[in-house]
This record gives sequence, C-alpha cells and structure tokens, in this order.
Amino acid sequence: MSDSISIASPADFHVHLRQGKLSELVTPHVREGGFSLAYVMPNLTPPIKSTKDALDYKTRLESIDPHVDYLMTLYLSPELTPEEIRKAKEAGVVGVKSYPRGVTTNSDGGIESYEAYYHVFEAMEEVDMVLNLHGEVPSDAAADIHVINSEPHFLPHLIKLHARFPRLRIVLEHATTRAAIETVKSLGSTVACTITAHHLALTVDDWAGQSWNYCKPVAKYPDDREALREVIREGHPRFFLGSDSAPHPVYNKSTASPSHGCAAGIYTSPILLPLTAHLLESFDALDKLEGFVSTFGRSFYGRPVQSEQGAGLVTLRRVVRKVTSSYSRGEDIVSPFWAGRELGWEIVP
Ligand code: NCD
Ligand code: DOR
Ligand code: ZN
Ligand code: ZN
Repeated sequence: MSDSISIASPADFHVHLRQGKLSELVTPHVREGGFSLAYVMPNLTPPIKSTKDALDYKTRLESIDPHVDYLMTLYLSPELTPEEIRKAKEAGVVGVKSYPRGVTTNSDGGIESYEAYYHVFEAMEEVDMVLNLHGEVPSDAAADIHVINSEPHFLPHLIKLHARFPRLRIVLEHATTRAAIETVKSLGSTVACTITAHHLALTVDDWAGQSWNYCKPVAKYPDDREALREVIREGHPRFFLGSDSAPHPVYNKSTASPSHGCAAGIYTSPILLPLTAHLLESFDALDKLEGFVSTFGRSFYGRPVQSEQGAGLVTLRRVVRKVTSSYSRGEDIVSPFWAGRELGWEIVP
C-alpha cells in the first residue's frame, strides 16, 4: 500500500460554519482539513431565510477565508416563496435545507409537513435548486418514534417527494441506517445521499454517555454502520461526503443539566480529510477516497473541479499523529472529534 495519495480537491457537501466569533474560529478549519468547497448550512440564529441573508453570510465567510468556494443554502420556512426561489437561483444560491420541527439544533422553526411547501418545491424543480433533507421525523413516544427509528420513519416522505417531484434534485443528508442507504439506492438519479465521517466510526455504544460523540441523527447499530461502509466500498456515485461538522463551544458539549442535555454536533472540519482517509482505509475503501470526497458530490451538484478557485490536487502522506485536543480564539474553545487519538494520514502542505 502506497505511502502517499493525491486526489482532486475535496468538497464538503454539508458543513456548519456558524456566525459571529465562533465562525472566525471554525471557518479557516475548512481548508486546514483539506477542503476548498463548503456547502454551508443555514441554521444560524436567526436562520438564513432569504437571498439577501445568504449573500450577506457568504460575504462574511469570504472575509474570514476567501480561498474557499462557499455554496449557500436557505432554510425552508413558511416565508419562502417561489419568487424568492427564482431570485435565490439567480444569485447563485444552490439549495434549500429542510429541518423537521424540533429534531435538531435551531430547528424550532422547521417543518412538520411537506404539502405546504409543494409550490416552493415546484419552483425549485423548475429552476433546478437542490432540496437538502434532514431525514428524521420528530420523536413521539405515543407513536413509538425515537432517535433510533426516526430516520427509517422519515423515508416514506422521501419516497413520496421523489415520486411527486421526479426532476427535483434531493439529497438525504447524513444517512445513518441501512434502511436509508437501501431507499436512496432504489430511487432515481435525482436523489443522492451524504454520509459523514463520524458515522463511519461510531455506533450507539460510542455516544451513550459520551457527549463528544453525540450528534443528530445519532449513530445507529453496527449493521447500519456496515451499510454506510459497504456503499462507499462499492463506489456508488450517489453517496458522497457531507461532514455535518457542527462545532459547539466546549461548555455546551461538556455540560448538561436535568433541564437540558448537551449540544448535538460533532466537530470534524480541522481533521476532515486525514480522518476520512484513515476511516476508509480501516474498512478497505481507500481506493474510493477520491470519488467519495471529491468527484461524486461535485458531479451530482454539477460543479466541475477545474472551474473552482485553488482546486488543484491535494496530497496525503502516512504519518502517526495525534488529533489536537482543542482549538481556541479569544474566549471560544472547540474540541474536535477523536481528540488525542492517532490518525494515520496527514495533508502534505
Ligand atoms: C406529509 C405526508 O407524508 O403526508 N409529510 C410530512 O408530514 N412530513 C407530506 C409529504 O410527505 O409530502
Ligand atoms: O448534530 C447535529 N448538529 N445535527 C444537526 O443536524 C445540526 C447540527 C448543529 O447545527 O449543531
Ligand atoms: Zn441535518
Ligand atoms: Zn447538519
């Protein structure tokens, strides 16, 4: 096995770059982690709901690090109109993210039913904007819906949406179950799926009682993790990396009280490419690295590598290096996934 790998510039098709001071700390970590394209989630406080918000946010991100291609998204909300979709498309906004009500961070204003958005989806299908789905239904004890089965219970909504809008490009974000992988595989070429790095590593045992490994959707059973690994090993072009790197200040991750738990989110941006290479190698898929992190996602999103700024080759070499335990700037401190653990690859500067 070779001691170095060069791949076309990696693209992260799902990342949280936050706002304010925290954004200044974490945004530079996109490139530190080996990436030159960031598909930016809109769940700020308040959420990014208009073209103007998205463009202002993009300007702020570019002022922090101009050497990344930021692809912007809008937060699906009742205020979103077909007119706004057309305006967003013209301004270069790429997608719209839907969060089910209550299931994830800053999603209190999220969606409960999709019917109300059909006029928006029609406009999106017409102008070719992408619908990004957080694929969980809200927990409901009376209906026996909880964090373990909330994704499988969402899949009928995905199937129904694709049947109703076959030309609408839909991405099921951060899939965590065999059921989700099988469903996306069974659907047409307009439906794709992102997979995070951390869900290739974790199962339920790793987050039960370990707040640093807690995110939404939660990591599922070993057989589910195996399904994620298999589809990557297979080199399936509709499955690609979206890190869902979701930094929270350490005090929000490490403390919980009887009234609130710890924040959901795992921070992988600063180590993303070495971590992904390390994990793919662990399940015999290192030869699929370039497809998974660079070409499959770009191809689904219609983004040729050559057209992007600074998008050359990135080279990794073998090393044994411990993951930094924390990153700080001013008063902000964040801690990455696998802090203190060894990774087998590093980026050649
Ligand atoms: C609705 C349904 O399935 O009836 N979805 C939902 O409540 N989340 C509408 C739909 O999926 O289209
Ligand atoms: O764990 C998560 N954290 N999942 C999400 O979907 C949102 C994210 C966040 O923004 O913190
Ligand atoms: Zn999500
Ligand atoms: Zn996310």
